[in-house]
Amino acid sequence: MTVQTVTTKPIAGQKPGTSGLRKKTPVFMGPHYLENFVQSIFDVVGAQGKTFVLGGDGRYFNDRAAQVILRMAAANGAARVIVGQGAILSTPAASHLIRLNKTDGGIIMSASHNPGGPHEDFGVKFNMANGGPAPEGVTEAMFQRTLTIGEYRIVAAQDVDLGRIGRSDLAGMIVDVVDPVTDYAALMETLFDFPAIAAMFKGGFRMRMDSMCAVTGPYAVEILEKRLGAGKGCVVNGTPLPDFGGMHPDPNPTWAKALMDEMFGQNAPDFGAASDGDGDRNMVVGHGIYVSPSDSLAVLAANAHLAPGYKAGLKGVARSMPTSAAADRVADALGIGKYETPTGWKFFGNLLDAGRATLCGEESFGTGSDHVREKDGLWAILLWLNILAVRKQSVAAILAEHWAKFGRNYYSRHDFEAIASDRADAMIGGLRASLPSLKGRVIEGMTIAGADDFAYTDPVDGSVSKAQGVRILFEDGSRIVLRLSGTGTEGATLRLYLERYAAGPGGLDLDPQVALAPVIRAAHALAGIEGFTGRTQPNVIT
Ligand code: G1P
Ligand code: ZN
Repeated sequence: MTVQTVTTKPIAGQKPGTSGLRKKTPVFMGPHYLENFVQSIFDVVGAQGKTFVLGGDGRYFNDRAAQVILRMAAANGAARVIVGQGAILSTPAASHLIRLNKTDGGIIMSASHNPGGPHEDFGVKFNMANGGPAPEGVTEAMFQRTLTIGEYRIVAAQDVDLGRIGRSDLAGMIVDVVDPVTDYAALMETLFDFPAIAAMFKGGFRMRMDSMCAVTGPYAVEILEKRLGAGKGCVVNGTPLPDFGGMHPDPNPTWAKALMDEMFGQNAPDFGAASDGDGDRNMVVGHGIYVSPSDSLAVLAANAHLAPGYKAGLKGVARSMPTSAAADRVADALGIGKYETPTGWKFFGNLLDAGRATLCGEESFGTGSDHVREKDGLWAILLWLNILAVRKQSVAAILAEHWAKFGRNYYSRHDFEAIASDRADAMIGGLRASLPSLKGRVIEGMTIAGADDFAYTDPVDGSVSKAQGVRILFEDGSRIVLRLSGTGTEGATLRLYLERYAAGPGGLDLDPQVALAPVIRAAHALAGIEGFTGRTQPNVIT
């Protein structure tokens, strides 16, 4: 078969963010767009003689992009590519396959929780041999390569049959099409007490899993319905669709509203969960009670030893800076390490690789452990199920006991989406400039103890990441964090993170928006949100 060398020109803006390169689908489908970026990946990481994993979340263009990537891998001399059947792999399953097969990395086609479809989003991300997202040095090198690229290589060949499991040959490269679920499900069986969870379901425990027409459907059906006996119909929206059925596959109370309504309604199941486009995020809900991701991380850290995979205890707990300090309190009580990293899963990789942290989490519905190098939605859901099966209490009771013991970090994130980028930059710039003068100022009856722009020195490799978010700390332990999203594709998104600690007893069961009201007012006053953005209210509250 012939390798074609195609002449091309650099295309502006192929800069991968925290989670790979994400653009509108028509942009990705434009002439040479996908090809230029994939060639830049191979030019940076090298393909000759290497083995890669390939899969995606099933969104529009996933199948055709997979064929292009396979042809380019073959033309660039790759020895073997392991592909999920139908070009489907959840992000955590891809991470697992990279590690399990000791491959040289993998390409994941996903724009995570962003909507999919002909006019929505698409994305491509490279993960390293450890199974985790490429670090900044590598993605920056890929970006630099896109600026100088002059040609790409692709073989002229028919499509590989990705519908059929088994081995085939593509211009001398081995293509192994594997079941996307099997190895992942086997890993979950090693971590969790499946018989105990199955017994709980047998005893009448009821669960609803909303896969949001995205990638976890087949995983959830196999694991929850078939292996654990959660019952047929436990999983809803369980078929991955190219446009996610028009859903916005982001598991939070706003976008997973149907699940929230069911869990807060009459005759609600005992436990509800949802996951996102590519299966790395999760939301968990009890009967009549929502579990914030920050609280979820803390509860999982406090109870992980109840699951077989973590019975020896945790080495440490890591959270992103905007995530509430609830997990820190658990780490302190357990006498284990605690780490505060910038936003983005890649910052956990070194801590996991070095054996410093076992559990990691972000307030943005991401939770995971050292079993893979990505956050993992179904893993978090299964750990909750394992804990529920052992403790034999409701989600509400577990949370209440947790808060009574550790106090409660009231927490909320307010998102102001699609605001003008220049206004957002001006606002953050103004806030940065004011930081040195904030200390000692009293606002809403709270005294500012300090303010800074978060900088992180990686304890493993010493690398420094600056300007990761403005933090304003109050003497009573309350905290305001502001940063601009790095994953949006339209204008700017301001993320405002709000936190207030209540030690208890008493005052532990307020509505977070009520408990946080003075902190919210202080944030608006200090940042001048309305003046800069014209908005008084966020459009997403989590
Ligand atoms: C968002 C989340 C962040 C997460 C990232 C990728 O990034 O806030 O925690 O790691 O998506 O899932 P942001 O848009 O805030 O930059
Ligand atoms: Zn995701």
